[in-house]
Amino acid sequence: MSRIVLGVAGGVAAYKAALLLRALTEAGHDVRVVPTPGALNFVGAATFEALSGHPVTTDVWSDVPEVAHVRIGQTADLVVVAPATADLLARAAAGRADDLLTATLLTAHCPVVFVPAMHTEMWLHPATQDNVATLRRRGSIVLPPAVGRLTGPDSGPGRLPEPHDVAALAQVALTAGAGALRADLTGRRVVVSAGGTREPLDPVRYLGNRSSGRQGWALARVAAGRGAEVTLVAANVDLPAPFGVRVVPVGTAEELRAAVLAEAGSGGGVTADVVVMTAAVADFRPATVAATKLKKDSASEPAAVPLVRNPDVLAELVTKRAPGQLVVGFAAETGDEAGDVLAHARAKLARKGCDLLVVNDVSGGGVFGRPDNAAVVLAADGSATEIPHGTKDAVAAAVWQTVLPRLP
Ligand code: CTP
Repeated sequence: MSRIVLGVAGGVAAYKAALLLRALTEAGHDVRVVPTPGALNFVGAATFEALSGHPVTTDVWSDVPEVAHVRIGQTADLVVVAPATADLLARAAAGRADDLLTATLLTAHCPVVFVPAMHTEMWLHPATQDNVATLRRRGSIVLPPAVGRLTGPDSGPGRLPEPHDVAALAQVALTAGAGALRADLTGRRVVVSAGGTREPLDPVRYLGNRSSGRQGWALARVAAGRGAEVTLVAANVDLPAPFGVRVVPVGTAEELRAAVLAEAGSGGGVTADVVVMTAAVADFRPATVAATKLKKDSASEPAAVPLVRNPDVLAELVTKRAPGQLVVGFAAETGDEAGDVLAHARAKLARKGCDLLVVNDVSGGGVFGRPDNAAVVLAADGSATEIPHGTKDAVAAAVWQTVLPRLP
């Protein structure tokens, strides 16, 4: 159980802080809410007290013997400020200590995540952008705001991301540290494929696989959190789109191939800086797709299902890639009499020709659909980086740590 301080500043998105608080406590964390006085105009202290199980104060004059303005920050494992308004960012950047939240920010030694939410003009104003740059330079995480509907009829950058996305990124900061969410993918284009393809046999049946899409989702979420422009080519994944990520849904391997090559810019146009293939692409598909449902005890009952090979999208990406484009593959392997997991993976890396191969050992029953994972990242230069067991978001953060130094 980690100790998290949830700072809430005075913007209308403060109502989402209650849901974020709920997500963090349900993940097993001890959360203390520190709102600004303005935040309590939007959500009452009783809501935060009931959901957190802790008293809520906004100034340094309550609980004076407890020295709350020092102790709350000192003992936190993570501070998340959501929403962080333009005023809160300005006060934090200036090092003010005029309420309990800003005083807490000055005494926190742990990772601090600001989740901005404000009107687009306020976000884009040079004063706010300077404050964001100052906070990032000092090591704080400032997430990019989501784009979409704001209060009133306007839309643009400035929305608070959905609470489940903030909770997932908070977990990344908690386990992988502030460095895992630096804004160092800003201006980069990233394409991630995720899920498992389905190859139709007749109008109701298909050949599929057990990939849940969760690892690809985590890679996309963390890349967007680091500032990248992310496209997720998603084969049959039933998960909400991570914030800041454009999802292109596909069904079959052929559809996935067309979408990934187009998004990567393999045929020309805007090219991606990195393409990560987490999708489980079916190697084979039924040679023919019946136009009507196959019936038992009828002429259409198949004695066998002949299969044909699907294209190898990863190998094709490698041959068609733009100069400097990094191509990352994933492989779920088991050891057998021909070799152990890493031997198979090294052979696959060489065969596919990609820059990095992230290898999961699935001998013990697999990682499919589970929230956690572990991996080894093999590089074409022969290096191997072990990623310890953790959530798929933590594994995603570690994968980006190995990808980043390789970007031109
Ligand atoms: N892949 C792909 N196209 C395929 C099959 C796989 O792009 N037709 C990609 C996957 O997205 C993954 C990597 O290749 O990034 C490795 O997938 P895997 O299924 O392990 O590769 P295969 O070549 O199918 O190897 P195996 O014969 O062991 O199944």
